[in-house]
Amino acid sequence: MIYIEYAQNHYLNLSVIIKSNLYLLQNQKKINMRFFRFLLLNVVALFISTSTLTAQDGGMWIPSLVKQLNIDDMQEMGLELTADDLYSINNSSVKDAIVHFGGGCTAEMISNQGLMLTNHHCGYGEIQAHSTLENNYLKDGFWAKNRDEELENPGLTATFIIRIEDVTNAVLSGVIAEMNEDERSAQISKNIATLNSGLEKEESQDVKVKSFFDGNQYFAFITETYKDVRLVGAPPSMIGKFGSDTDNWVWPRHTGDFSMFRIYASEDNKPAEYSEKNVPYQPKHFLPISLDGVEEGDFTMVYGFPGRTQEYLPSVAIKQLKEVINSARIEIRNKALKIVDKEMRADEGIKIQYASKYARIANYWKKWIGENKGLEASQAVVKREKYEAELMEKINSDSVSKVKYGNLLSDFDKSYAEFEKYNLANNFYSEIVYRNVEVLRLSYILNSFVNKYEEAGDKGDEYFKSKKPRIDSYLKGFYKNYNSEVDKKVFATLLQEYVEGVDKSFLPEYLLDEVDDYKNNYTKMADKVFAKSALINDTDMFMLLSKSPSSVIAKIKKDPAYKIGVSIINAYNAKVEPKYSEINAEIKKLQRTYMAAQIEMMPNKKFYPDANSTLRITWGKVDGYEPKDGVYYYPKTYLDGIMEKYVPGDYEFNVPEKLRKIYDEKDFGIYAENGKIPVGFIGTNHTTGGNSGSPALDAHGNLIGLNFDRVWEGTMSDINYDANICRNIMVDVKYILFIIDKYGDAKYLIDEMKLVRPKTTLIVD
Ligand code: ARG
Ligand code: ASP
Repeated sequence: MIYIEYAQNHYLNLSVIIKSNLYLLQNQKKINMRFFRFLLLNVVALFISTSTLTAQDGGMWIPSLVKQLNIDDMQEMGLELTADDLYSINNSSVKDAIVHFGGGCTAEMISNQGLMLTNHHCGYGEIQAHSTLENNYLKDGFWAKNRDEELENPGLTATFIIRIEDVTNAVLSGVIAEMNEDERSAQISKNIATLNSGLEKEESQDVKVKSFFDGNQYFAFITETYKDVRLVGAPPSMIGKFGSDTDNWVWPRHTGDFSMFRIYASEDNKPAEYSEKNVPYQPKHFLPISLDGVEEGDFTMVYGFPGRTQEYLPSVAIKQLKEVINSARIEIRNKALKIVDKEMRADEGIKIQYASKYARIANYWKKWIGENKGLEASQAVVKREKYEAELMEKINSDSVSKVKYGNLLSDFDKSYAEFEKYNLANNFYSEIVYRNVEVLRLSYILNSFVNKYEEAGDKGDEYFKSKKPRIDSYLKGFYKNYNSEVDKKVFATLLQEYVEGVDKSFLPEYLLDEVDDYKNNYTKMADKVFAKSALINDTDMFMLLSKSPSSVIAKIKKDPAYKIGVSIINAYNAKVEPKYSEINAEIKKLQRTYMAAQIEMMPNKKFYPDANSTLRITWGKVDGYEPKDGVYYYPKTYLDGIMEKYVPGDYEFNVPEKLRKIYDEKDFGIYAENGKIPVGFIGTNHTTGGNSGSPALDAHGNLIGLNFDRVWEGTMSDINYDANICRNIMVDVKYILFIIDKYGDAKYLIDEMKLVRPKTTLIVD
């Protein structure tokens, strides 16, 4: 879910990452690929035994390389499994229970009947889609009482990783130093296309090649994607989202952030479109669930799909991100969120319409605030500068490396200085046009429809007819959750932000003239635009769309909201985008070389690749932390803490009556620990967005919790992981079982699972 968030970040332009190659050194004729791989894997591996580095330095490692790189460290920390138990292509392994959920979150198999667990916030969109005012599953929760009651979710997918292969040599074959970036990327794309058709796979499987270490290494992922994924159960938001945005990114935490789905397959257990004839999928592996609980110091690992990290940035990039970009987008979202929050609190209908959108916007807004605070508190920029000084000393002490890498940091400085205003404008644009002002996002979509219609010339009507059903269905979804009064207020406030925040030379004249006409009164401007626009109202819009293609297009082009949207889009495309992309490509190339330099100059250091939405393993231990001087946070929370936070009737901290009753009667069943119900715990696992829903596993590979968040003081871990302060937050699996059984009365689901007691070696079920 969170994946979309990083997509707005400039470092993220994945298409460009593919264009990179680290050993492409200016005066080097041919790239010695073998040598590099040797350096990267073998030399690094040689040093492992002598290295003092452990998982405490963080790291999200590639499962197929664990055997070579990490297994000793992991076992030393307490892991009782072998590398083959974690990842194997010949036998079933833990990997086969791990699912990429909808492409943005992680989930895991917990029964041999396709039962799958993920976070409540990962299933939120689906739970919301099935909710109405009468049947409000967000509010009341949902438990399918039998398989017939499970709910279909069109578009939702569940992807398994069949195999991971290092394809660096094939991807970089024929890439030579003389190539410019475009030639290079063309060669790489060609190689990838050949690879895609050549790699062994079944018909139901796909291949995806991904770049690692900023384009220095490539892996192919053979995947299998299931498409019939049904909603099985979810607690009410009072449990699944307890603490809501106030508690989000915060420890101590008491959120029961889980939901359950079931994967269905064809009769031969293969992916199939939704059908009543489909049967529950039988996974190659599913996770046993530990009833033994967790204690401080226990080994934990998290297996999932982290989305994006940038651990190897130069200090100048961190500085820009913190001081310019984060600050601007925090401020923009501040304004939008305040408006939406007020409207949601005043109207139950608006609350349902905007709950999911609000949560998404608020999530990264709060993350960036924490990130900035953490970068400041940990002196990340100063530390990185020190690191750079050490690196430069090594580089300059050798004449060959001095030629190759000596100018890297000053080149970064130049590029980032030039990049700043374009980077800022890009963020304003994406925050305002794509994310926060809904009518502008709609203009954006209509604009591409209008452009393509016009480009098609004589074939325009044909194009119109072929695309119209998709536009209709998009609009249906759009208006279901749209309130024009809310959007109008956001529009007025954020347009002002745009005009005041973006470099003057990037602003469209049309917009500036409008602003002038209304004498800088943005509210008045919004009132007028919204009074006359057809885009903000489904009846008007569908009426408009029922006319002939040419008159629909003419009417859209005259619409006042559309005109403002398009003026901003066109100005952005003409004045910002080209330069933005150009400098961004330069920065990516520098980053590729910089990554290579770091690996080459520090042969004793074990490097893990930045997250890129591919399968990874991270491990650590259950551990508390000191958020500030004199304060220690214990690593576990209990149901008692929910009662401490309880505020009757509150939008964030209400507690359902039934849960209060169970608490009062101490009806805890087999889930209690010393008379208490555990709720959450934290550990030193290095996680990020996309890891939500990932299983937290014990030393034997049993499920002990469900990852869903990180602590506020440590959200900078995406840029500057620090084991002293960075913690991931997990919901205790015993709380999940307790809620399913005692609160949801869905014990039959637990009967499907395999409960174990590894600490006492007694198999319960
Ligand atoms: N911060 C967590 C993550 O990035 C949880 C987000 C969902 N919860 C919320 N209250 N918005 O996904
Ligand atoms: N909450 C995040 C997610 O949804 C996890 C994180 O950022 O720690 O993936």
